[in-house]
Amino acid sequence: MDIVQKIKNFVENECKKPSSKYGYEPFPFHFIPMAKYAEELANEMGGDKEVILIAVWLHDIGSIIFGRDNHHITGAKIAEQKLKELQYPAEKIELVKKCILNHRGSQQNNRDTIEEQIIAEVDVMSNFDNIAGIFKAAFVYEDKTQGEAKDSVRKKLENKWNQLHFENSKRIIKPKFEAVMLLLK
Ligand SMILES: [Fe+2]
Repeated sequence: MDIVQKIKNFVENECKKPSSKYGYEPFPFHFIPMAKYAEELANEMGGDKEVILIAVWLHDIGSIIFGRDNHHITGAKIAEQKLKELQYPAEKIELVKKCILNHRGSQQNNRDTIEEQIIAEVDVMSNFDNIAGIFKAAFVYEDKTQGEAKDSVRKKLENKWNQLHFENSKRIIKPKFEAVMLLLK
């Protein structure tokens, strides 16, 4: 089994554990769409595809195991440990760690590699494949009414659209963005 598959299985198992802070849903509804977009962008834009895919699977592992606070830091530590265990080359481990440390849109980042930039980008893109999850957050966690939820989901996705940096990602996401705006205006 290749290293990407091993890491994917590790993450899926962590999501299935009762102790997972976000349950199983991030696996099918966040990580899988991210991997699909990461593959597409890596094919078009370059970067080390293996590193990119490993970083996709592991980028939120800190959040799954310990919760959202500082999950970029906890996640980078878990990734290092796991990848060392699998005897992954040290310089590639460093790059995976940088991808995880710099993936969060909410912080100031200096993403100086294409791998880091692709991870941050596909994290944003995956929102357009998970409208149900964004509505779930609005109803269940934020206790919003239907009208409030509709507005907040539209605004959230408008913000996400504005966070896209690459022409390639905008081209890929544009039909989904336009469909959302049509349905939620
Ligand atoms: Fe994420």
